[in-house]
Amino acid sequence: MPDSPFTFVIPAPGAIPSRVDNHIQRRLSAMQGQFLDQVAYAKMLSESDRLIYEVYEIQRPQIEGELLMGISIVHPGKVGQEFYMTKGHFHTVLETSEVYYCLQGEGYMVMETPEGETSVESLAPGKVLYVPPRWAHRSVCSSRQQDLITFFIYPGNAGHDYGTIEQLGFRKLVIEGENGIEIIDNPRYQAR
Ligand code: PA5
Ligand code: NI
Repeated sequence: MPDSPFTFVIPAPGAIPSRVDNHIQRRLSAMQGQFLDQVAYAKMLSESDRLIYEVYEIQRPQIEGELLMGISIVHPGKVGQEFYMTKGHFHTVLETSEVYYCLQGEGYMVMETPEGETSVESLAPGKVLYVPPRWAHRSVCSSRQQDLITFFIYPGNAGHDYGTIEQLGFRKLVIEGENGIEIIDNPRYQAR
């Protein structure tokens, strides 16, 4: 039986959708091994298990033909010199894409293919980012005060492969260096 069309609202500011089926909160403890400065990570974690980012999902069947939508909110902050970020993932079905629409804040999408191509795109309100099939993606909040808020939409059958990034990391990192925001090669890439 076909579903009925539905609508929801993403109010500004705040951007918590009027319809939410699932709210994910990812804390520092869920980001084990991801940040470059492992000493700073351990010290922060011993003080408190801070909230790094949240996802509000509108649930649909996870099958081909469906689209999964939601809001991702990365809070401002740093671990050592590195900005707060999402875990990041490849899609399990590698040949699936994703669209991000930035609603608020400042940040970057760090992306790479299994073959080693890399791309880091800046995000600002009003900007749409198309992540083609095969590109792993991670959102980074580079503002010191404001959340990075994006609306995302991707195929229902895409799935999330977190394991590859957990093992290898991303090839590029976004850090705050002496002269401001820097995109650097990850010295720990594959060093896990
Ligand atoms: O599917 C996506 O790319 C997004 O919905 C992300 O899941 C969201 O931004 C959170 O990131 P991650 O899934 O890497 O924890
Ligand atoms: Ni994705």
